[in-house]
Amino acid sequence: MAFLPFWVCVLVGCFSVSLAGPSSLSDLEPPLWKESPGQLSDYRVENSMYIINPWVYLERMGMYKILLNQTARYFAKFAPENEQNILWGLPLQYGWQYRTGRLADPTRRTNCGYESGDLMCISVDSWWADLNYFLSSLPFLAAVDSGIMGISSDQVSLLPPPKNQRKFCYNVSSCHSSFPETMNKWNTFYQHLQSPFSKFDDLLKYLWTAHTSTLEDTIKSFEDRYDYYSKTEAHFERSWVVAVGYIAAAHFPTTLIRTYNFQKGLPPRILVTADVAPFISDFTTFQNVVLFLLNMLGNMDKSTGYLCTEKPSEYSGPLESSSRDYGNNS
Ligand SMILES: *[C@@H]1O[C@H](CO)[C@@H](O)[C@H](O)[C@H]1NC(C)=O
Ligand SMILES: *[C@@H]1O[C@H](CO)[C@@H](O)[C@H](O)[C@H]1NC(C)=O
Repeated sequence: MAFLPFWVCVLVGCFSVSLAGPSSLSDLEPPLWKESPGQLSDYRVENSMYIINPWVYLERMGMYKILLNQTARYFAKFAPENEQNILWGLPLQYGWQYRTGRLADPTRRTNCGYESGDLMCISVDSWWADLNYFLSSLPFLAAVDSGIMGISSDQVSLLPPPKNQRKFCYNVSSCHSSFPETMNKWNTFYQHLQSPFSKFDDLLKYLWTAHTSTLEDTIKSFEDRYDYYSKTEAHFERSWVVAVGYIAAAHFPTTLIRTYNFQKGLPPRILVTADVAPFISDFTTFQNVVLFLLNMLGNMDKSTGYLCTEKPSEYSGPLESSSRDYGNNS
């Protein structure tokens, strides 16, 4: 067990390898970044409210793009071209989910997210898409609430998915009442972001605190989704959550280049039952090693509970009771 911190260092170390110079930072942007909405006025307006459909790839990506745009001024002091904006980790991760087919309907009951159907569709049955919903909507709505977007809190509303509507929240006030602590943590991050005295590592700490709190609040609601995947993919999902706890504790800097490099180690497609890391023939060595280590972290967590007791304080809160319902739609 004493080897565990060593493995985590290897993992985070792998993620930090330096890039052999991208020809341009825009090469590192997530898929269809240029095509995504870049300002609120790109969205539909109804009753003087911006209406965003986060179940469409481009519209959800647009929330990130606007967030990155509106927070760029706070990171300008660290590097040019918004490269050091630590919010890059979120849209890049979302882009990886899209590129690797993880936002599509895992049950295949619909064509949602497939080329044969609607490639832009985000499936509510996707475990990845559901967790990412909260890692896009909560940071976005909290930024609105913090005054960063230049509109008032009641001026934006998200559309519900076709089913399971009570598992989600759709505007600033209802997300605050469903997830008060997590929304406050995102607000705390934005308060520090707006302070000229905040240091880079402090911002990382507040960002990761809000991120892990978001996962703790929501992960139990989507446990039924694991059954839609192969055993290997479901195990990777569970392991991934454990790994995120460690990446958070290490205050991994989720800037553009660092996140891009880190993602080269993630599985480039959904895992099938026959996949055994580190021996997957269509994966790179880096991808095989990372998956092997991630799975090991997941195994240790499951078999010993060691990680549960040794988790850093930001990640040790009790999980919310399962299958809570939110909002008043159904
Ligand atoms: C933010 O968006 C505006 C309007 O789309 C654009 O002109 C500006 O260059 C963007 N700023 C950054 C830092 O991306
Ligand atoms: C926010 O959402 C809740 C529940 O979905 C709804 O009852 C409320 O009217 C909405 N508030 C605004 C300002 O749109």
